[in-house]
Amino acid sequence: MPFGPVGPGRMPVPPAVRVVSAGTVSRTAKPDGPTARWVARGEVSLPPGTGWLTPAERARAGAMPFTKRRGEFLLRRLVAKHAVAIITGRSLEPSALSTVEVANAPDGAPEVRVDGVPFGRDVSVTDRAGWAVCVVGTGVGCDLELVEPRSAGFVDTFLTAAERRFVTGRPGGEQRDVAANLVWSAKESGLKVLRTGLRRDTRDVEVSAGPPGPAGWGTLRVRTGAGPVLPGWWRREGRFLLTVVTAASQPPPQPLDRRGPLATATPRHSWLTRPR
Ligand SMILES: CC(C)(COP(=O)(O)OP(=O)(O)OC[C@H]1O[C@@H](n2cnc3c(N)ncnc32)[C@H](O)[C@@H]1OP(=O)(O)O)[C@@H](O)C(=O)NCCC(=O)NCCS
Repeated sequence: MPFGPVGPGRMPVPPAVRVVSAGTVSRTAKPDGPTARWVARGEVSLPPGTGWLTPAERARAGAMPFTKRRGEFLLRRLVAKHAVAIITGRSLEPSALSTVEVANAPDGAPEVRVDGVPFGRDVSVTDRAGWAVCVVGTGVGCDLELVEPRSAGFVDTFLTAAERRFVTGRPGGEQRDVAANLVWSAKESGLKVLRTGLRRDTRDVEVSAGPPGPAGWGTLRVRTGAGPVLPGWWRREGRFLLTVVTAASQPPPQPLDRRGPLATATPRHSWLTRPR
């Protein structure tokens, strides 16, 4: 989401968070969860027709009048179906994808069924500018952002004091854009783990992050007021930035396939030419 629709003060505010330094995070805890797996797909991979959708998905997509919303919905379904198909050893052919249903719980979180049976693992999906990521794991939330400028108003309104220092302490330009989008993305991922989404005040969770390691992943933490500290990871993928937050510490997410398309992907806004 380029800009949060819910501002501080417009939502019930849980207990205030302790402000912490947003400096380098060292990960000392032993990972205690299974490794999350991730995959990315672009809108160019959307199959023609609707044969890859379940009847319920087809009905939901058909009720969405605007190309942008419908396209994002379909792309998130595609990437989740590909992830589940790879994990369960299914073909990526449309008829096989139609056996995987990506529905939603009442709070909006994805609920995946395979041949009508709950998948049994947590799935998180996200899209941005014609590209989508799915992460499969346990207690997982992910968010994809473009590395793009964020206004001073955005930083002032949605970030905590420590997060603002983390962002404004960087030289202007790309370094600052990375920091602002990293903080925002990690908040969204953390709020997906908590299953509140942006119903919750974005300043009620506080992000700190370290630099990327040799494999491209940097550590992060999301402090959640009186709640748990959620561990996570972030990485740059070309023009994009991905965060993955989990309920329990885990090794860095592993790719589900070797295509690595995000690293060289061009952001697309194809809906602009065909809004309906
Ligand atoms: C969760 C949220 C922050 C993601 O927003 P976003 O950055 O625009 O979109 P992303 O592409 O990164 O993620 C969208 C996905 O988040 C997931 N999601 C939505 N609500 C979620 C929640 N409460 N917990 C975990 N994941 C959630 C969904 O899988 C959604 O894709 P889908 O609807 O196609 O299945 C935002 O949707 C939100 O705040 N939702 C809660 C408020 C709301 O209006 N919910 C409506 C559902 S009834």
